[in-house]
Amino acid sequence: MSPRRTAMGAPWRTCGCSAAGTDRGTPLTLSIFPTRSIGIRRRPRSSMTCDRCVTCPVLSCPVLSCRSMEETDRDDLVFEALADPTRRALLDALFQDDGRPVQALCDRHPEMTPFGVMKHLGVLEAANLVVTRREGRTKRHFLNPIPIPIRPGRCATRNVRVRGRGTVAAMTIDRAAADKLLTTTRSVRKRLDLTRPVPLELIDECIEVAMQAPTGTNAQNWSFVVVTDPAKKAAIADFYRRGGEVMAGSGYPPPLPEGDPREHVMPKVMESATYLGEVLDQVPVFVIPCVQGRMEKVPMIVAQASTYGSILPAAWSFMLAARARGLGTAWTTIHLFFHDEVSELLGIPPEWTQTALFPVAYYTGDDFKPAHRLPAGPMIHRDTWGQHP
Ligand SMILES: Cc1cc2nc3c(=O)[nH]c(=O)nc-3n(C[C@H](O)[C@H](O)[C@H](O)COP(=O)(O)O)c2cc1C
Repeated sequence: MSPRRTAMGAPWRTCGCSAAGTDRGTPLTLSIFPTRSIGIRRRPRSSMTCDRCVTCPVLSCPVLSCRSMEETDRDDLVFEALADPTRRALLDALFQDDGRPVQALCDRHPEMTPFGVMKHLGVLEAANLVVTRREGRTKRHFLNPIPIPIRPGRCATRNVRVRGRGTVAAMTIDRAAADKLLTTTRSVRKRLDLTRPVPLELIDECIEVAMQAPTGTNAQNWSFVVVTDPAKKAAIADFYRRGGEVMAGSGYPPPLPEGDPREHVMPKVMESATYLGEVLDQVPVFVIPCVQGRMEKVPMIVAQASTYGSILPAAWSFMLAARARGLGTAWTTIHLFFHDEVSELLGIPPEWTQTALFPVAYYTGDDFKPAHRLPAGPMIHRDTWGQHP
């Protein structure tokens, strides 16, 4: 990889290899656009690309990143697996009814021998399009949609400055889809599917997306603890329930004034939160976003805001990314009554702060609705506090 400098002074990189000259055994690191607008100087394709280079969707020219060999190999497996109509039919069957054992799939495809079905399932599993779970002597098969969507980093989403053409958006945002995601990402508790395994690859992908969030001075002083160990989940669930008891005894949240529109929702929230406490240890994955620093050691508001502000945007992005992949989450904090105990259990260093606990599971049902919120008008202050639109 050779860093170069354009006439505008913005640094950029080319892969510096041609398809013929690349050592295919050496994975190249992924290099996405730098945060600033970049200058692109068109160069002959053969001198700057390999078969792993990404093409800019707007400029239709090779751009400045390479995909690793591993990613390319993985894609080959996916496309080879999908090329076969029988395998696509097996995926359709799993889409309609996930978690089928081999026998159920054989019954659906009497034209194939059980050996044939197993062979195709093996190819789908190797491509990571299907994941399996053993229940006694039964092996259940689940559809795994991860390899299909375009992975983050594979396409440019930032603006690209082109000589003589100003800045162009490299990818258009679908506003309706964005608003839907933002307005329907609910706290999911009762609709968490406690039986369906969640591939950790999907969690990693959500974290990668979340790490596009801002941090104070670009510190990126964050960490995400992913917990799947049953004993650790059970211990944390226990702290969560004990936290719930402490909270119930504390008189928090204070009663709402009579007629407050939030009043009728509160019993439902409480009931749902209690349910979550009861089943928490059965939720497949916990994600705990952490930030370096302890609030009690930084008395200035600016420091506190910068510390929490360097993790909470990423935490919410994680929830959005999860929702976009069919995963339900809920923002919870009750276990933090036992912050230090949970840190010790998970080996989190004492100078780090846990900020939330997200139970993560596939959600059941198809969709979520926007919530009833208080009207925005009184919350908006124009120029002076109290001047509402
Ligand atoms: C800072 C914070 C702490 C929360 N703590 C908990 C919690 O410990 N347990 C829980 O079940 N929900 C918790 N919630 C979720 C809220 O109850 C939920 O966001 C609220 O009822 C609105 O519902 P919605 O997210 O579905 O719109 C928390 C939310 C936030 C933002």
